Amino acid sequence: MEANPQALRLCVLICINFSSFLHIIEAQDQNGFISLDCGSPPNEHPYNDVQTGLTFSTDNAFVQTGKTGKVQEEIESLFPKPVWNLRYFPDGIRNCYTLNVTQGTKYLIRALFVYGNYDGLNEYPGFDLYIGPNLLETINLGLWGTGGMFEEIIHKPISKSLQVCLVNTGTGYPIINTLELRPLENNSTYNTQSGSLRHFRRNYFSTASRTVRYPSDVSDRVWIPNFDEKKWTEVTTNLSVNTSNGYNPPQFVMASASTPISAFAPWNFTWTWLLTPSTTQFYIYMHFAEIQSLQANETREFSVLVNGDPMYERYSPKPFSIETLSYFTPQQCDQGNCTVELLRTSKSTLPPLINAFEIYTVIDLPLLETKQDDVLAIKSIQNTYSLSRISWQGDPCVPIEFLWDGLNCANSNASEPPIITYLNLSSSQLKGIIAPGIQNLTNLKELDLSNNNLTGGVPEFLAGMKSLLVINLSGNNLNGSIPQALLRKKGLKLIRDGNPDLICADELCANKSVGSKKKNSVVPVVVSVVVLVVLGFALAFFFVLRKKRTPNSADPRTTGSSVLAIMTKNRRFTYSEVVTMTNNFERILGKGGFGMVYHGTVNSTEQVAVKLLSHSSSQGYKEFKAEVELLLRVHHKNLVSLVGYCDEGENLALIYEYMANGDLREHMSGKYYEFLQIPYLCMVTYENCPIGLEYLHNGCKPPMIHRDVKTTNILLNEHFQAKLADFGLSRSFPVEGETHVSTVVAGTPGYLDPEYYRTNWLNEKSDVYSFGIVLLEIITNQPVINQNRENPYIAEWVGLMLREGDIQKIVDPKLHGDYDSGSVWRAVELAMSCLNPLSARRPTMSQVVTELNECLAYENSREGTSQNMNSQSSIEVSMNFGIRTTPDVC
Ligand SMILES: *[C@@H]1O[C@H](CO)[C@@H](O)[C@H](O)[C@H]1NC(C)=O
Ligand SMILES: *[C@@H]1O[C@H](CO)[C@@H](O)[C@H](O)[C@H]1NC(C)=O
Ligand SMILES: *[C@@H]1O[C@H](CO)[C@@H](O)[C@H](O)[C@H]1NC(C)=O
Ligand SMILES: *[C@@H]1O[C@H](CO)[C@@H](O)[C@H](O)[C@H]1NC(C)=O
Ligand SMILES: *[C@@H]1O[C@H](CO)[C@@H](O)[C@H](O)[C@H]1NC(C)=O
Ligand SMILES: *[C@@H]1O[C@H](CO)[C@@H](O)[C@H](O)[C@H]1NC(C)=O
Ligand SMILES: *[C@@H]1O[C@H](CO)[C@@H](O)[C@H](O)[C@H]1NC(C)=O
Ligand SMILES: *[C@@H]1O[C@H](CO)[C@@H](O)[C@H](O)[C@H]1NC(C)=O
Ligand SMILES: *[C@@H]1O[C@H](CO)[C@@H](O)[C@H](O)[C@H]1NC(C)=O
Repeated sequence: MEANPQALRLCVLICINFSSFLHIIEAQDQNGFISLDCGSPPNEHPYNDVQTGLTFSTDNAFVQTGKTGKVQEEIESLFPKPVWNLRYFPDGIRNCYTLNVTQGTKYLIRALFVYGNYDGLNEYPGFDLYIGPNLLETINLGLWGTGGMFEEIIHKPISKSLQVCLVNTGTGYPIINTLELRPLENNSTYNTQSGSLRHFRRNYFSTASRTVRYPSDVSDRVWIPNFDEKKWTEVTTNLSVNTSNGYNPPQFVMASASTPISAFAPWNFTWTWLLTPSTTQFYIYMHFAEIQSLQANETREFSVLVNGDPMYERYSPKPFSIETLSYFTPQQCDQGNCTVELLRTSKSTLPPLINAFEIYTVIDLPLLETKQDDVLAIKSIQNTYSLSRISWQGDPCVPIEFLWDGLNCANSNASEPPIITYLNLSSSQLKGIIAPGIQNLTNLKELDLSNNNLTGGVPEFLAGMKSLLVINLSGNNLNGSIPQALLRKKGLKLIRDGNPDLICADELCANKSVGSKKKNSVVPVVVSVVVLVVLGFALAFFFVLRKKRTPNSADPRTTGSSVLAIMTKNRRFTYSEVVTMTNNFERILGKGGFGMVYHGTVNSTEQVAVKLLSHSSSQGYKEFKAEVELLLRVHHKNLVSLVGYCDEGENLALIYEYMANGDLREHMSGKYYEFLQIPYLCMVTYENCPIGLEYLHNGCKPPMIHRDVKTTNILLNEHFQAKLADFGLSRSFPVEGETHVSTVVAGTPGYLDPEYYRTNWLNEKSDVYSFGIVLLEIITNQPVINQNRENPYIAEWVGLMLREGDIQKIVDPKLHGDYDSGSVWRAVELAMSCLNPLSARRPTMSQVVTELNECLAYENSREGTSQNMNSQSSIEVSMNFGIRTTPDVC
């Protein structure tokens, strides 16, 4: 049993260094080892540690910051030389070591922290230890009053450099005495399903008192002898044991073993997690070799049990040859109490035996490192300008709280490596030319080098940087002429004033003083004017046409009588009814903005979707109420309807009609989408959602603004009828006199009306904007935001394609040959008009409906348009084709 792992850790540390082991230093290969005596003088030559023969050197080349100190003399005598010096970090929050490693190789990484009253204050510090962007451990040197600790992990670095960072947490300056890296011999050992391994214990079972490490262990693992003389007897051999199975423990470790004293008793070992949660996951590696010469009539056979579960039944160790037993999956212990037992089988004539074992806990390393190319590029820039910013250490982008000063990144929390999108080096006293390393920051959108003392020309490579949108070079001493390619680059804003010697020898410069802003804004304005003119004409024309064709289309504003009926249809449920209807929340349909959505059944036949408000959501209650109030008021076949709700203390739930076919977004990536797309473009959007929207805007008094129109909020029922869902953000706005309402901005990035975002003024045209994005999504079948695209935002991207005349690229290639280009173009134009930066210039939802109606009529009349669709008879997409129904009234 282990009482005090941290104290043991220190004991181990002392044992390592006090081992009575008389070593014979063999000429072992230390290839790839990094052994740093942290805080030793920068001019000190590498030296060999007396006990291990390992070559230690100063840490000077591996860390840019920190100061050096020394443990007190009386403490010095307890430790070998590499421990005497230390480095402490009085400045900055995060200070990092950067170590070159071989990609794909597993490493044993060990750091040692001994306070040794180096500052004479006698106060043990505490700090956080990070590996790359991830927290490894909170080090508290005062915890057990020992002032010393070591941390060891087995880890496979993802990139060619490894960052070990110490983070000041406000409890003293972080310190470090030694840092060691040992590549493991075999990459396919110590495997985990995920994460890395943190040393918990590594024992060999022997009465010897010798701690074994390098050079006996070629990977410099430290093996501590362990022996319980009350329970065990020792077995040893003078014969050689074959230890090469990838793990390759030292010969000395495998040449002894323990067996139970009483021949029929089990061999067992127990431990408890004290500092880690009882649910800690771990891996155990048990090393066995038969080291007795067995007679023909003797057998040794036993079962191996971990926490009472058989890991291996009827196991017999191999004679004089190692075998390592381990699990593929991480294990857990009951209430944090862990046991290993070896139980002799009935066939066995000898008791169980074990030579050594290792126990590691699993550490999660969830955050990805910044994309390597970006890291290399930013470091080369840092070198070029000899920038010494204290925050420029460790990973540039992650974790977000240690983001480098002057940078912005994308994907800081996503499943893809973060990328650098913004670099601000203004007023940084930069000298020399514009660093060529900048061109390797290929994801950069904005570059600010203003107010420095940069000289030389403006490099051509800036024009080749695809994602760059803004370059600010103002206030430098740049000279020469600006490259043509840069001046002519579309969508780029170049600010270059305040460079007296910079020449712009191009007619493009003639009529503008600052950058190329003007040029770029002309094109989109022209485009949108054209679109508007065309659209205005088309709208006027079709408006007339539609009036003629559908003379009895009801004005949805005429008052109806169904309001009360609807309200009584909506039912209030108790929480226990909700539990019953969802069969105790058995089937999850999805996850909404503020809670999970479950499948349920009402009256044992009617299928429903139950959205449960999670307790942790504070914003949720307001939105919950907004949604209940709205859906009690409105009812329309193109709005997902409310079957009931539950409002019982903390338990809030909304019960909707069940939409069997999920949301529109899912279908866009699905294999049938091409059969749905054209009909959806003209039919479903027309026949369903916009009408739902038009209804909210025009059919309700006061009008409603949905505020979160997007493809994931357009749900499809079993007949593929689309309905608008999720009214949590919706707002009503005053009718007479006022045209907008000022609110806190809400919505989804990519769909959010930029005018509303800028001004906080909400009007129904914000929904029109979002709907325009939905239309573009349907036409292009492209994500709304895609960082890998020339222009991440779909609206900007389509705009750019239109300007460049690259029209073919816009339409989903799957559609080729099966659409009327005229009607698709009308749809693109309609979408673009919905995206007009000025809300006043966007069409109303009624106009959108009218236009799509025409488009539908046209597609409907075309022969052969929907061949594919009809052949796919299982999808009843043509259900509502062309049928117009009068909406219900609020
Ligand atoms: C790490 O590797 C880079 C090149 O890959 C080299 O320039 C640098 O000097 C190395 N650093 C150390 C400390 O060896
Ligand atoms: C481990 O794997 C990496 C990459 O696969 C390889 O470069 C390295 O040499 C391997 N190391 C050993 C010791 O096999
Ligand atoms: C191993 O060798 C030592 C001395 O060489 C001897 O005293 C000891 O008995 C031997 N042990 C075994 C198990 O043969
Ligand atoms: C690495 O270890 C595995 C088993 O753990 C073994 O099968 C393999 O042969 C070893 N590879 C090398 C190069 O030693
Ligand atoms: C461990 O083995 C001893 C006998 O060697 C036995 O008395 C004890 O109950 C066992 N403990 C556990 C947890 O199995
Ligand atoms: C095995 O055989 C030897 C004689 O060869 C005998 O002395 C010993 O008792 C036997 N052991 C067992 C477990 O039967
Ligand atoms: C686990 O260990 C703790 C303390 O060591 C003890 O109080 C508890 O009863 C143990 N639980 C089990 C299931 O053995
Ligand atoms: C940019 O990256 C390439 C390839 O990664 C490299 O060869 C080149 O030296 C880098 N350029 C600069 C200026 O760092
Ligand atoms: C900029 O550099 C030039 C030439 O090295 C020097 O004469 C000038 O004083 C510098 N200006 C500033 C503001 O540092």
